[in-house]
Amino acid sequence: MPDDLIRLSDDPANNRYAWRVQREEREAFPHRHVWRSNMRRRVHGTAAAAKRLINRAEKVRRRFEDALDLGLTELRFSFPDLPPAFDGYRILHLTDLHLDNIESTAALTAGLVSDLKADLCVLTGDIRDNIHAPTGPVIERLGRVISSLKVADGVIGILGNHDSAAMVEPMEELGIRMLINESMTLARDGECIHLTGLDDVHMYHTDDAARALAATPDGFAIALVHSPEIVEQASIRHRLYLCGHTHGGVFNLPGRGPMVTGLKRKNRRLARGLWRHGEMVGYTNRGIGASLVPSRLGTQGEVGLITLHQGPPETAVVPL
Ligand SMILES: [Fe+2]
Repeated sequence: MPDDLIRLSDDPANNRYAWRVQREEREAFPHRHVWRSNMRRRVHGTAAAAKRLINRAEKVRRRFEDALDLGLTELRFSFPDLPPAFDGYRILHLTDLHLDNIESTAALTAGLVSDLKADLCVLTGDIRDNIHAPTGPVIERLGRVISSLKVADGVIGILGNHDSAAMVEPMEELGIRMLINESMTLARDGECIHLTGLDDVHMYHTDDAARALAATPDGFAIALVHSPEIVEQASIRHRLYLCGHTHGGVFNLPGRGPMVTGLKRKNRRLARGLWRHGEMVGYTNRGIGASLVPSRLGTQGEVGLITLHQGPPETAVVPL
């Protein structure tokens, strides 16, 4: 066992050790039942075979281009209760990079974000694609993206269902503030807002996540969650919910809408773009990269640039 884990377990204020032990057990068998685990292996095997086949085909090059067709979406959210010191605060939202799937994703992302200025960057999970692959190469690619950012208040990260617990410390070494079922406070001119960051609720730690949401301090709060599957609990204390996970449905055929969302049926309305739940507004970002098969159809990759405003409730989404 590495020394750092022993150190964490000795600190009663830090529950990361217990969290990591539980998560790594689940990473070995991400689904609860053996038959589901077997099915997952078959799906991965089939996907890998399909990937080899389509990599040889000329038409896949066009789909690679679709997957890498990255766009910028400007989002403006206005809230009556936003502390005035945060009027005009800009948040760069990056999600679902899957950096180990398509090699050029890191360079493309770094090129796009290097032209943008924001106060804060949030990474809402799925930095990697293969949870069982070595961590080093994906951290090296993430480092290239992080070093291209121009954000005064730094970077906050959470994990997605493709990410591993072993990524937390290397990401923190890149200067990313990781939130694992925790909240933090951002202060500006004597006023503050809170951010709650959860481990993936699609496959891991839903109960811990719900407790973290409930423990968020009163005041203006933003939830950072990989998928839009915990909106009920989040809407009690949060005004804005930022997530990804769905890749905009991966394949969108005319008249059919998003084909692959990875969401429960009741949450499919949250599969992409802007939505509301009670007093909370949310945005499901289409994500940057592609998962398993390096392809998208009818859903462009997306970087979100959010501006918060203090004023009457209003939202605007402007693809650039
Ligand atoms: Fe993803």
